[in-house]
This record gives sequence, structure tokens and C-alpha cells, in this order.
Amino acid sequence: MSLAEIVYTRQDIARRVAELAGELRNDLSGERPLLVSVLKGSVIFLSDLVRALGIDADIDFMSISSYSAGTGPSGVVRIVKDLEHPLQDRHAVIVEDIVDTGFSLSYLIRTLETRNPRSLKVCALVDKTVSRIAELDVDFAGFVSDRFLIGYGLDFHGRYRNLPYLAAVTNIAALAADPDALVSLFQEGSSPADR
Ligand code: IMP
Ligand code: MG
Repeated sequence: MSLAEIVYTRQDIARRVAELAGELRNDLSGERPLLVSVLKGSVIFLSDLVRALGIDADIDFMSISSYSAGTGPSGVVRIVKDLEHPLQDRHAVIVEDIVDTGFSLSYLIRTLETRNPRSLKVCALVDKTVSRIAELDVDFAGFVSDRFLIGYGLDFHGRYRNLPYLAAVTNIAALAADPDALVSLFQEGSSPADR
């Protein structure tokens, strides 16, 4: 039995990223935005999004880590790497891989709001609306899903980020027991470009 199934192919993703870029471009109405990429999961999404955007834009990176009290996310978050650009009077867009409980993102929004951006929006590749605990708005969402996804930046304990598609893990316990169980995905099929 396979432990994962493809839910969005690279073509599905390319189409959706182009649409999102169009929505963002309209929203920005000629302003040069600062795209804030949250490491590491969003870098693949960011690199496609910023090229599809087709307007003058700056990019910057931030890294945060969340502490868990043992039973799940605690909402306690720390900045590991901060932005290099000031946000004052900028139109900033947080680019996230996936918003789950929303704890990390709501911390990020609160932190960045104190730097007085002209606007602060959120663009997430995947919005897990059913898991949301923290109250926040995802202004631009690529896909809505309630499954555990890997690929296109999303990882399982750091693995599988460079799969070119989004796949849902169908048996997380089995993958946890053997984190190598999905390496065959890198060789499967006749041509990776078809997926
Ligand atoms: P939260 O919104 O604070 O709960 O955390 C979001 C983070 O959890 C994301 O940035 C991912 O690192 C991780 N995460 C949540 N759901 C998934 C998933 O389905 N696949 C991979 N990582 C996930
Ligand atoms: Mg992440």
C-alpha cells in the first residue's frame, strides 16, 4: 500500500500560483511590495510566486521556531532569523507554505504589525482551515486542505520538500516509523515532468 498520493500536480500548482500572482498584483495596484518568506517551507512557493508576479518586488526571509509544551503547539514562538528590510511604510506580504493552527502566523503578524507597514497581507500556499485555532485572515490561499501534505516545500521532519507536486501522506504512523518509506517517489513514473 502506498503511503502517499498526489493531490496537486506540478501543473495544478503552476496554474494556481499564476492565479494567485494575478490576485496579488491587482491588490498591490502598482506598489513595490516586500514579500516576506517564512523559512524554510515557503521558499519554493516564493520563487515561483515572485516570478509569476511580474512586477518590481523585494524579497526577504524570516525564520521562526515554535515551542511545543509536549501535547501540541503552545503558541510560543521565537524569531530565529529576522528580516533585513525595514517594514515602515512598505506593502508587505507574508508568504507561507501552510497555515495550520495559525499560531506561528498570528505571532508573526503581531510582530510585523509593530513595525508599521503600510499594509500587511498573508499569502499561503495551503490553508488548513479546519485546524485553525488562532484567529487570523489568510488573504490569498492557493489550496484548502485538511490532510498532511508533503512536497513543493512542505516537509515531513525535514524530508520530501523537493517533490515537485503536493502529496497527501495517507499513513503518518507508518512514515514516522520509517521516514525513508517515500524515497521511491523520487524515482517513480516514466518522466518526472509528467507529474
Ligand atoms: P501552525 O499554523 O502554527 O500550526 O503551523 C504551521 C506549520 O506547521 C507550517 O509552517 C508547517 O511547518 C507545519 N505544518 C502544518 N501542517 C503541515 C502539513 O500538512 N505538511 C507539512 N507541514 C505542516
Ligand atoms: Mg513550516
